[in-house]
Amino acid sequence: MKSVTKLLFFFFSISCCSTVSSAEGLREAVLRDAALDAGLVPARDTHILSDDALVSVGQKLFESRILSFNNDTACASCHLDQFGSADGLPNSIGTEGEGVGAMRIVNGGDIVPRNALPFWGRGGVGFDVFFWDGKVDNSTGKIVSQFGDQAPSKDPLIAAIHLPPVEIGEMVIDSRGNDPLQSETVETANEIYDMLAERIEKDPELGSALALARSVPRTSLKFIDVAEAIAAFVRVNFRVKSTKFHDFVFDRQQLSAEELEGGLLFYGRGGCSACHNGPYFSDMKFHAIPFSQIGFGKNGFGVDYGRFNVTLDESDRHAFRTPPLYNVAKTAPYSHSGSVPLLTDAIGVHVDPLLYVDPQKMSANDRTEFYNRLRLWSSTSLNGVVMTEREIAAIAAFLDTLSYDSDSPVKVVD
Ligand code: HEC
Ligand code: HEC
Repeated sequence: MKSVTKLLFFFFSISCCSTVSSAEGLREAVLRDAALDAGLVPARDTHILSDDALVSVGQKLFESRILSFNNDTACASCHLDQFGSADGLPNSIGTEGEGVGAMRIVNGGDIVPRNALPFWGRGGVGFDVFFWDGKVDNSTGKIVSQFGDQAPSKDPLIAAIHLPPVEIGEMVIDSRGNDPLQSETVETANEIYDMLAERIEKDPELGSALALARSVPRTSLKFIDVAEAIAAFVRVNFRVKSTKFHDFVFDRQQLSAEELEGGLLFYGRGGCSACHNGPYFSDMKFHAIPFSQIGFGKNGFGVDYGRFNVTLDESDRHAFRTPPLYNVAKTAPYSHSGSVPLLTDAIGVHVDPLLYVDPQKMSANDRTEFYNRLRLWSSTSLNGVVMTEREIAAIAAFLDTLSYDSDSPVKVVD
């Protein structure tokens, strides 16, 4: 090579590579700014810590079948680390179920017509809307729940923890023998709480550990002590940790090229952060995304009206709480009815609602419901976004940067 050509080549390589690296630096800066604008905070800013002894007895209670009326179901039957603290099933199987994951389908049991929600970040600072339909809601600073003005606690996580043990099919067997408990009123709930508190008081290990951790005499243990302990466990064990994405935003660590592209699509053209924002990747509000509905549905015959069931406000029909996205790569299947097995399809449905349904195979009733959801979706910013398979895969890779493990995995019951 002649020296002039060499020199030109040298200049060319400098200018070419510095352009690339500054372009990459720019893309990274854009993503960092977008994440901060959308409300991401360092993991520790979401933490509400608790006493170790209370957390430890909370875990034992969580793993014990003692909290189900018929002693056959534990919180851990449906909330396990191996499924990202959900259960790996489309609709949960509660009482009379056996085993974990798909084994529960094989063995049968009472079906809870919704997809189990995981716990990451639940009960952290500002996390105050619970369940797919927000039936426990402290977002206005005044707790709203089925308990009306008799809420067991002002803390929404503690109020939420009061619900599973009194839900028929979830932890109370759906049978004629339990008829007096079928009313699901606050009075019958209180009866169940008293009975469970008495059981725990009598349990040699749990009774003394809980009384000690709550600093109360064993004989005066109440269900609120149980709920406080489980809340401490959920809050501490599943608290948000510094993920690969936090490290990228707050500590200038690197993302792969695909993760970076996915992040830019998430905050940019995909418009995902319009709803999946804040410290938990949820606006804690309610929206209708046309996921197909499977299972019996909360309203029966394959219908789930979501938020409408709580507010009876027509504009809330088909709307569900925006799901937080920590560990979403682990919590398949997706949506409120668990109708979508793959993360990439769950992303795709947002921009291409017909991706996962075959209108020809739907009943006329299901199609009508689906059109209603399409109508609601069509006025969101998602309508009109076009995304390739490769771009959707990049968003999935980005979402996987929000994965982390709990401190102490929940033990498998059965
Ligand atoms: C039969 C399976 C099953 C059992 C047992 C179970 N859950 Fe759940 N859990 C679910 C399902 C399904 C949902 C979502 C329900 C909904 O939103 O309508 C859920 C949601 C929750 C939520 C709300 C999370 C959020 O994101 O808002 C909390 C808290 C919770 N469960 C705690 C518990 C506790 C504590 C126990 C034990 C006392 C328990 N669960 C037992 C299936 C189960
Ligand atoms: C208009 C608000 C809104 C926008 C914008 C939005 N989402 Fe969602 N997202 C939701 C709601 C609401 C659900 C739950 C709907 C349901 O289950 O019926 C959901 C569900 C999900 C799920 C499934 C989570 C689970 O646990 O089942 C994923 C993954 C997801 N969204 C990712 C994305 C991505 C990626 C984008 C951008 C392409 C996006 N979302 C844009 C509101 C939104």
